[in-house]
Amino acid sequence: MMLKPRNYPPPTGFANPWEHVRLYSDAPRNEAMIALLTRRAPGARVVEVGCGTGLLSCVAARLGARHVVAIEPTPLAHVAAALVAANGLSAIVEVVHARVEDVAPRPVDLAFSELLNADPFAEGVLSAMDAVAPWVAPGPGGLAGRLAPRRLRVWAALARASSSAREARLARAQVRSIGARYRLATGALEACLDTPLAYVSVTATEVPAGLPVLAWDIALGTGARPAPLTLTLTADDPGPIAGVLLWFEAELDDHLVLANPPGNGGHWGQLLCAFAEERGLRAGGSLSVSLSVDGDHVTARIG
Ligand SMILES: C[S@@+](CC[C@H](N)C(=O)[O-])C[C@H]1O[C@@H](n2cnc3c(N)ncnc32)[C@H](O)[C@@H]1O
Repeated sequence: MMLKPRNYPPPTGFANPWEHVRLYSDAPRNEAMIALLTRRAPGARVVEVGCGTGLLSCVAARLGARHVVAIEPTPLAHVAAALVAANGLSAIVEVVHARVEDVAPRPVDLAFSELLNADPFAEGVLSAMDAVAPWVAPGPGGLAGRLAPRRLRVWAALARASSSAREARLARAQVRSIGARYRLATGALEACLDTPLAYVSVTATEVPAGLPVLAWDIALGTGARPAPLTLTLTADDPGPIAGVLLWFEAELDDHLVLANPPGNGGHWGQLLCAFAEERGLRAGGSLSVSLSVDGDHVTARIG
């Protein structure tokens, strides 16, 4: 019998500590979250939606939060509980092993999360912030509690996506050559490779090939959802275009945003929606691209 290595199969998603290693490697991300807590945690009742290892909930406690509810659905809730206990913060930080949707609301002054992703909706930020919105009660003196982030903006720009286009060309050439070698009619397969639906991946190397356009600006915690839309995106310079680049801007507080624009570094990268066929555009030429969010994932179509 083959023995399985102790950590196999590995935990998936945020149950895998490597996902958290990636977050913590991103100093500007960490500092934006700490800036929020420095401003809003002292004296506050706080809930962290998705505390992961519990580090930021402990920071909130160290910064003087009155009480912190640290909610985490994955087994990392046990790591969070251990971190809280090891730092003598058990009287302040309460770790709840659950999804926020399944926890009864309690009044807080600050509800915060970092449920962002290169695919901006993929971590369920919309439903999680809707679920925590009722926790944000009016505070003493009539001050309303705060949701952070409170708005999520998504920007889009054309991208050359030349390596995706090259792959699509190579795939078509390979299919034709295999078809010819074995006398197979490959028309149906070639037609399916010519889909107007974009291939979605994460990139850190593409740059916008034209001016960014605001696709969605969503007030979180209000039940608002990104409506399907069609954008006209313009190229700055002549040349082939085979994709659309998307990135987010999450407004944590006044003059405090978390964002992953191209060229910003950080661990997120940007979402690249690549089309199988390159379109040649002149400078100032435009393409019409339809965007929608289906099941927490961005879908893009050309035309
Ligand atoms: C990107 S991590 C952020 C971890 C931590 N807040 C930080 O900023 O370092 C998002 C965390 O949210 C958790 N999460 C995802 N959906 C959730 C939900 N519906 N309710 C509560 N937590 C959730 C994930 O398991 C993950 O640990």
